Amino acid sequence: MKKGVFITIEGGEGAGKSTLIERLSNKMLQRGKSVITTREPGGIPIAEQIRAVILDRKHVTMDARTEALLYAAARRQHLVEKVVPALEQGQIVICDRFVDSSLAYQGHARGLGMDEVWAINQFAIQELMPDLTIYMDVTPEVGLERIAQASDREINRLDLEKHSFHEKVREGYMRLLHQNPNRMVLINAEQSPDLVFNDVLTAIDARFAGFFVIDV
Ligand code: TMP
Repeated sequence: MKKGVFITIEGGEGAGKSTLIERLSNKMLQRGKSVITTREPGGIPIAEQIRAVILDRKHVTMDARTEALLYAAARRQHLVEKVVPALEQGQIVICDRFVDSSLAYQGHARGLGMDEVWAINQFAIQELMPDLTIYMDVTPEVGLERIAQASDREINRLDLEKHSFHEKVREGYMRLLHQNPNRMVLINAEQSPDLVFNDVLTAIDARFAGFFVIDV
């Protein structure tokens, strides 16, 4: 079955995931690795359409469970259509967000309960978990300020949540880190992009020693 490596990147708003993912993928390509980058919700047409529905700022009446189910539906389709085939071909898949986002945002911050959200996601992912999850840690103050400064970044429905929501998201991720010390690594994402990148490469090397060493 699975031969590739599945790496997910997590974090609150403005954590710098996109910049990191681009650099990481370039580095792996330079080292002759076969790598794809993708994102959730989205990554394929059906899931991008679900993304548009979820994040539409007009959809203020969206129920929290509906939201959780839509994320899980987008995840399912994206896994089946894109992630699993790439892993079966032996590729490295770097995915911007995965199930931990649902656990932190819908489970903890929205208050649906992490166990409940895990249950619907188990149905969606059927045991396929990442080999490594990088959690990019920033305080909401720093993350939201970065978004406010970035003119090219569209503000979505979840960005508009109150400050306390983003605090809860971070708290949710901290719980997940505590529960999954072997799979998840915390990176201080308030550092400069170069230092963040270095820390991430070190974490990847430590996790996959001997499989794909990436020189800095
Ligand atoms: P992005 O801005 O990182 O592309 O993510 C889109 C938004 O969707 C972001 O606010 C986080 C949120 N999200 C969830 O709430 N649950 C999920 O399962 C996923 C994948 C994203």
